[in-house]
Amino acid sequence: AYVIAEPCIDLKDKACVEECPVDCIYEGRRALYIHPDECVDCGACEPVCPVEAVFYEDDVPPHWQPYRQANVEFFDVLGSPGGACAVGSVSADPPLVAAHAGRAD
Ligand code: F3S
Ligand code: F3S
Repeated sequence: AYVIAEPCIDLKDKACVEECPVDCIYEGRRALYIHPDECVDCGACEPVCPVEAVFYEDDVPPHWQPYRQANVEFFDVLGSPGGACAVGSVSADPPLVAAHAGRAD
């Protein structure tokens, strides 16, 4: 599966959402998350993110490895809804993102 990492936090550009053919990119409070089981690895989301927050799971930079788990944890409560549109925005984030200090700019 693909993974959304730190640069998405407090930005949430959402260009990636438009590209996903299976609607598996879900919105949290401070970032978006890719469902690890619903993602079909098409790669369409990765090049459109303006801040390069999206990576294939095996290509996540070392310092952002914890985001692989964060994308999994986000769905601990949601389960596998089968589509982000129907779920809408969720006012929660996994601990890693919730505790993030925020963007410097
Ligand atoms: Fe976030 Fe980039 Fe998508 S900022 S919402 S991962 S386009
Ligand atoms: Fe969706 Fe394809 Fe990305 S299934 S999450 S656009 S890799």
